[in-house]
Amino acid sequence: VSLKDLHTFKLPYQADAVVELTAAEDLPSLADDYYVLGEGSNTIFTTDFSRTVLKVGIKGYECSETENSFELRVGAGENWHDLVRKTLDADMPGLENLALIPGSVGAAPVQNIGAYGVEVSEFIRTVEAWDREQHEFVLFSQKQCCFAYRDSLFKQHAGRYVITHVNFSLSKNWRAQLSYGALSSVPGDASAKTIMKAVVAIRNSKLPNPKVLPNAGSFFKNPVIPRQQLQGLLERFPDMPYYPVDDMQVKVAAGWLIDQLGLKGFSCGGVSVHDKQALVLVNKGEASGEELLTLAKEITSRVKTRFAIELEIEVRIMGEKELINA
Ligand code: EPU
Repeated sequence: VSLKDLHTFKLPYQADAVVELTAAEDLPSLADDYYVLGEGSNTIFTTDFSRTVLKVGIKGYECSETENSFELRVGAGENWHDLVRKTLDADMPGLENLALIPGSVGAAPVQNIGAYGVEVSEFIRTVEAWDREQHEFVLFSQKQCCFAYRDSLFKQHAGRYVITHVNFSLSKNWRAQLSYGALSSVPGDASAKTIMKAVVAIRNSKLPNPKVLPNAGSFFKNPVIPRQQLQGLLERFPDMPYYPVDDMQVKVAAGWLIDQLGLKGFSCGGVSVHDKQALVLVNKGEASGEELLTLAKEITSRVKTRFAIELEIEVRIMGEKELINA
């Protein structure tokens, strides 16, 4: 079965089989050797995959209300941006900064999707999942999910849990989050819908539409480095953007590092560094997994040589049977 249309980087590889999961109740009876996929916007298949792919298509959207919040229970197979739009259309603000992020609702907690100063973990009350090791359904509180920057329990135990539903809580005490540089021109009293429009416009201006130019969003994580190392770097590169993490650490912009090396547009065969956002790699067509891995290695090594910073791949890279960058 072709995987090309099941992941947004669109490499031309095959899986042994693809099974669609539409109901959580079917999980206990499934033969267990499968790899879980949502919409494939953060996974790249770099070779033929000699296992079954389980595509999570559990739908559903329930909404209730308390005095202080809107409570949503959403199926893992719903599209993320559809959910953002639906909540804003129903005057339930909160998710606007996370507009237009590709992928499914069930994938959102795995890497704790985030953009423009907001992370999805802020709105998650609980996550419902199937535990493939213990063969039981489990309910994780927000705390138990161990959310961090592009990280969670589900990512740390890759493959163990199949997320079936996510429960969100959107506070009625909404406040706009406009601290991220790119949103600084939005007026402080803007509505959530106006903010969503600004986010959509910024994303469309920088990030390639996966339907037009196949890609998987940011390819590397923004590295977190000690403040001490930052000081040394700022002496050499005073314009380097960075964001506070805590007293000891800061996050630096990997896209900026790659851009400084003049690598926008740099290619290896059919894979290229996007010319408007250096953190995104794109498939210009006819690309292979090998070319992708070669380009990734070249970028990592050049960044290390110039800045003494080790880039870490953010996307899930699949080999013949397993994740190869776990
Ligand atoms: N920059 C450059 N050149 C580039 C790219 C970026 O100089 O080619 C500079 C920008 O000017 C800016 C800084 O680097 O000063 C950060 O760039 P940007 O705001 O575009 O965001 P990013 O750090 O590259 C992260 C997320 C994105 C998210 C944006 C906005 C990660 C790995 N990526 O990117 O998430 O949309 O911030 O919040 O944290 C994704 O994960 O797939 C993704 C797109």
